[in-house]
Amino acid sequence: MQERLTLLEREALARIDAARDEKELDLVRVGILGKKGQLTEVLKGLGHLPDEQRRTVGQLANELKNKLQSRLDERRELLRSESLDRSLAGTVDLTLPGHPLPQGSIHPINRVFEEICEFFHGMGFEVVEGPELETDHYNFEALNMPDYHPARDSQDSFYVDDRSSAGGDRPAEWLLRTHTSNVQVRVMEKRQPPLRVIAPGRVYRRDNDPTHSPMFQQIEGFLVDRVVTFGNLKWILTEFVRHMFGEARRVRFRPSFFPFTEPSAEVDMSCPFCDQKGECRVCRGGWMEILGSGMIHPNVFKSAGYDPEQCSGFAFGMGVDRITMLKYRISNIRWLFENDARFLRQC
Ligand code: PHE
Repeated sequence: MQERLTLLEREALARIDAARDEKELDLVRVGILGKKGQLTEVLKGLGHLPDEQRRTVGQLANELKNKLQSRLDERRELLRSESLDRSLAGTVDLTLPGHPLPQGSIHPINRVFEEICEFFHGMGFEVVEGPELETDHYNFEALNMPDYHPARDSQDSFYVDDRSSAGGDRPAEWLLRTHTSNVQVRVMEKRQPPLRVIAPGRVYRRDNDPTHSPMFQQIEGFLVDRVVTFGNLKWILTEFVRHMFGEARRVRFRPSFFPFTEPSAEVDMSCPFCDQKGECRVCRGGWMEILGSGMIHPNVFKSAGYDPEQCSGFAFGMGVDRITMLKYRISNIRWLFENDARFLRQC
């Protein structure tokens, strides 16, 4: 009986190895392990054997069954992958590089927003967001811009006609905020100094040409404490410009006017494109204006209910689109909004 098993093993293994495809292999399997297969027959015949022999032969036959089964599996795997290779050969060149999947990237404006916020966060500023739909009060009035101020003209601002919610004699006027400075008094009304705040967001003006879009983005910053000086303002903005545009930048504070700051200054930096030679098309005379700033006007503190004798502060505001354009040398602001994938892929 044992000899019969040894013989069966040798023969079965040879037949398995000789099978040339999965179909042939299946026939071999049926011949050995099928209902009427050779090994099946042996197992069936075990009942007729005397007890002693039944145990040893039964064990051997079962071991052989497992061995042949795994050999069949191995061979099937091998034949399968060989046939796959054969069917791919000639139709697919496996050495060709694959098709790269398109990858998204962060929009340049968001990238610059993040970079600016990160810088001021490092200086201890917190981010506060204000509403884009704003009342005349926070956008102008509380910022020392009385109603005869030219910036309040509807030629410059987008007024939204909703006077139904107005109370009192003079109806509240709603508009899309023209700058992020609306956040200043909103924050001061709710909190007490010391304050260090930056307010990023969208703003709207009636402007539309290659360097102006009716919607654009600003970051406002303000710091209020007991004693704050113009020197503090100069230092932080100089650090900021060098962080964004490189250590080699020179920074200039040019006297200017904003109703909500006194004194006011516009901040220019030396042109990073012509290195201040004034020979390039981007800058005018080697300098580029990048933000507005100044010491917070006493009237602004009064609007917020602060005593201007007890506190002081500075504020600044910058156009994020403009900074993005300067940083990435983008000449038309529309490219930032059109979302043409060919443009965005370069960022
Ligand atoms: N709000 C001003 C603007 O939009 C910028 C500014 C902010 C200037 C704060 C001074 C202080 O042009």
